[in-house]
Amino acid sequence: MKALDALFEANKIAFSPFVFQTVNTMMELGMMDLLFETKEGQTIGQIADKTSISKYGVTVLFEMAECAEIIERDEQDRYTLTKVGFFLVRNPMTLANFHFTNKINYKGLFHLTEAIRDEKPAGLKELGEWKTIYEGLSSLKEEDKKAWFEFDHHYSDNSFGEALKIIFRQHPKQIFDIGGNTGKWTIASTSHDENVKVTIFDLPQQIKIAKANIEDNHPNLASRVNYQPVNLLDPSSEIPGGADVYWMSQFLDCFSEEEIEAILLKIKKHASTDATVFIMETFIDDQRFPAAKYSLVATSLYFTVMANGNSKMYASSVFKYILAKAGFEIVKSHQLHENSFHTILECKIKS
Ligand SMILES: C[S@@+](CC[C@H](N)C(=O)[O-])C[C@H]1O[C@@H](n2cnc3c(N)ncnc32)[C@H](O)[C@@H]1O
Repeated sequence: MKALDALFEANKIAFSPFVFQTVNTMMELGMMDLLFETKEGQTIGQIADKTSISKYGVTVLFEMAECAEIIERDEQDRYTLTKVGFFLVRNPMTLANFHFTNKINYKGLFHLTEAIRDEKPAGLKELGEWKTIYEGLSSLKEEDKKAWFEFDHHYSDNSFGEALKIIFRQHPKQIFDIGGNTGKWTIASTSHDENVKVTIFDLPQQIKIAKANIEDNHPNLASRVNYQPVNLLDPSSEIPGGADVYWMSQFLDCFSEEEIEAILLKIKKHASTDATVFIMETFIDDQRFPAAKYSLVATSLYFTVMANGNSKMYASSVFKYILAKAGFEIVKSHQLHENSFHTILECKIKS
C-alpha cells in the first residue's frame, strides 16, 4: 500500500464512529430508505423537504456518507445509494450486525480496555447491572432486546432446515436442547417430527420466556416439551441422562475453553454411550466469505465487553481439541451450505 493510501485508511479508522453514526442517523431519519426508493436520485433540498430536516443537517450527513462511499452524486447534484449503501439498507446480515452493534455494543465498547484487562464484561453496565448479558436478556429495553434477538436468530434460523435433516436421520425420541433460548429449535423440531420430545435447558429467565412462547403460540406442541431451568456455570448443576440427542446451537461459544470442557463433562457424566451430541457453531476458520469471518471476529469482542468477558467465536480446531480432552470423538463434521455459516459437529462419547 502506498503511504498516502495508508494515511487515508488510518484516518478512516480514526473517524469510523462518525461514519457509523452518520448511517444510523440517516436510517433513523428515513433518508436511506428515501434514497433506496428513488432510482434517479434526490437533491439535498428534496431530502430536506421530505424529512423536515434543515439543509444544513442533510448536507453534513451526505458529505460524510459520500466520502465513505455510501452514497454518490451525479452532475445534477442528485444523490443515490452506492452498492455499499444498498447493502446497508437491504442486506439482512448487515442490518442484523448494524443494529446489534448500535443498540447492544456501541456504548459498551468504550469500556473495552477495562474488559480486556479484568476479563469482565465491563461494558455491560451500559445496559444494566448483571454479571453476564444472559441474566439480563429478558429485561433489556424492547428495542435493545429486538436487536439482540434479531442478531442471534439471523445466524441460527437460516441453518435450522438443514440441521433438522441431519439430526432426524437418527429418528431421536428425546432431544435435550441445551441453551434453548426462546424455544425456536424446540418448536422447529417438535413440528418436524410429531413423536419427538424435547427438554429445554437454559437460565430460569429464558425458560420463562420459552415456556410462555410455546404455550401461547404453539399449544399443539406444548405436551411434548419440558423445561429445565439451570445455570450450567454453577459447579453443582447437572445434565441428566435420558436423551438420545444432546443439541447445542450457538451455545458453547458463550463460554471459556475451561467452561466448555466442564459442560461437556456434565453431559458425559450421565449420557448413554449411544447418545449423540450435536454442536452447531459458526467457526471462524470455516467461513467462505470475508464478510462472514469479519462479523464473527467482531462478535468475539461482544463476548469480551458485553456478554461475559471470557468467551469468543472459536476456530474449529479449538473445539476439536476440547472435545477430545473431554472424552468425545467427532463422528462427522457437517458443513452447512444453504445460506448458512454453520458447521455441525456430530459427536459420540469415546469408548
Ligand atoms: C447465543 S444463545 C443461543 C440460542 C439458541 N440455541 C440459538 O441457536 O439461537 C445462548 C443461550 O445460552 C443460554 N445460556 C448462557 N449462559 C448460560 C448458563 N450459564 N446456563 C444455561 N444457559 C445459559 C442463554 O440464556 C441463551 O439462551
